[in-house]
Amino acid sequence: MIPLAACLFDLDGVIVDTAKYHFIAWRQIAKELGFDFTERDNERLKGVSRTRSLEILLEVGGLALDTAAKVRLAEQKNALYLSHVMKMTPVEILPGAEAFLTACRQAGYKTALATASRNAAVIMELLKIAPLFDAVVDGNKVTHTKPDPEVFLNCAVALELPPQTCAVFEDAEAGIAAAHAAGMLAIGIGDAGILGNADLVVPGLKDLSLVQLRGAWDKKNNGTVAKP
Ligand code: BG6
Ligand code: MG
Repeated sequence: MIPLAACLFDLDGVIVDTAKYHFIAWRQIAKELGFDFTERDNERLKGVSRTRSLEILLEVGGLALDTAAKVRLAEQKNALYLSHVMKMTPVEILPGAEAFLTACRQAGYKTALATASRNAAVIMELLKIAPLFDAVVDGNKVTHTKPDPEVFLNCAVALELPPQTCAVFEDAEAGIAAAHAAGMLAIGIGDAGILGNADLVVPGLKDLSLVQLRGAWDKKNNGTVAKP
């Protein structure tokens, strides 16, 4: 059976609770544009780039804007988002995230951060989480946004491992699709009703053990559940 060798973590909504700040900022933009933007609408923005997020937002509002207006709105959204992010401290690391990453590393698995965000460096600095990762692939290093598998495949290259030896941890539907497109195990972090395509869904990393991870790995790779 193919061995599990690496764990690839999304950032927003998996390691840190920034997903709520993205939502607050986009909802404010929608409000200024004169329409309502719900949490359900916001699910479509998770995992996708800033530019693609704006396109989806405008689609929800039924608006078509020229490129200059879109650039301005994307900048405005990022400024709003960063006004929240810059106040963050390590307290906002999601429960269990640090402990799970540490357990993965102690078990000998490589770890990587795989995110569409172009703000990853500043968030990592504020939260002091850089030492938890062997590699980082962020939104500045990819051309295609999730559900394209590029970000995860680039992580595998950076870690010098075959994609089939990697497991992905994701809170976005687009991220689960991207993980599967990369040929990787997809662990959903969040609501099972939304992340139903994942190989396993848990509410947060605090609810996941390495035994469960290995069970999901074995099930995907040889159709049997690992012995405890
Ligand atoms: C992803 C978020 O991690 O990063 C998306 O889930 C966000 O909602 C994307 O749009 C890009 O983030 P940023 O920080 O570059 O605007
Ligand atoms: Mg996310």
